[in-house]
Amino acid sequence: MPVEPIRRTSHDREVSQTAEAVYGSQVAHYQARAAQRLAGNDVWLWPRIEKIRRRSRARALDVGCGIGTNSFYLAKHGYSVTGVDISHQMISAARTVAATHIGLDNQPQFICVDFCDWCPDDPEFDLVVATAFVHLFPAPLDRAVADGILSHVAPHGTAIMSTTVETAHSQGLRHKNDSEHPAPGRPLSDERWRNHYTRETFRNLIEHSVMNHPGTWAFDEHVTADPGRPQQFWSDIVVTRTA
Ligand SMILES: C[S@@+](CC[C@H](N)C(=O)[O-])C[C@H]1O[C@@H](n2cnc3c(N)ncnc32)[C@H](O)[C@@H]1O
Repeated sequence: MPVEPIRRTSHDREVSQTAEAVYGSQVAHYQARAAQRLAGNDVWLWPRIEKIRRRSRARALDVGCGIGTNSFYLAKHGYSVTGVDISHQMISAARTVAATHIGLDNQPQFICVDFCDWCPDDPEFDLVVATAFVHLFPAPLDRAVADGILSHVAPHGTAIMSTTVETAHSQGLRHKNDSEHPAPGRPLSDERWRNHYTRETFRNLIEHSVMNHPGTWAFDEHVTADPGRPQQFWSDIVVTRTA
């Protein structure tokens, strides 16, 4: 099935431009924690995907891939990976890592694109991963983005969407590291839009998207404590297109 661009208002487009600017300046932050996240992937990501029936040369899509941490992890596990991100700086950093990843014969392909406008010729993937991504889009666009993610899932394929979840739902412009108060005079370049979902609102969002899609889907939710932030939890929602 072909995919179509996600319809957006001009405000929605501005929000994505803000995200591009914010994440363009976050490369060093993501690089600094990449090793920790890669090690963490063995704990959370692999158990989520090892049960997935794998085809030879299974295709994986990493949406909002950043510097490609999940992309490289999946490539090492044999997936043929495409990573997409709106930030030139993030994609450039991912490509630099790819150039030095000696021994990986199936390097991820990294594409700098706004996911909402991305309509590849071969749009379906066996595994679609979107970690810390859907929350970046103001409601109701977040629903459309979750729909867009599911529209890339091949028959019998799986999508994993992850975000932090909190005790109260809110959305708005926030500092990237909202636990830290900005120092006086600190530039506002790290402000970005985000949804602070509760476990229920995030689950409802994905359930709604699943109902919008044809076929039968299995739904699995994993909630774990966020080790760095006592008030927050991570929710990983795994949906598999069983028919
Ligand atoms: C919070 S980071 C998560 C990065 C990575 N998934 C991870 O878990 O480390 C969100 C990423 O989404 C990207 N992004 C934001 N809006 C986007 C859009 N409209 N299309 C593609 N990428 C986008 C940002 O540039 C950023 O790299």
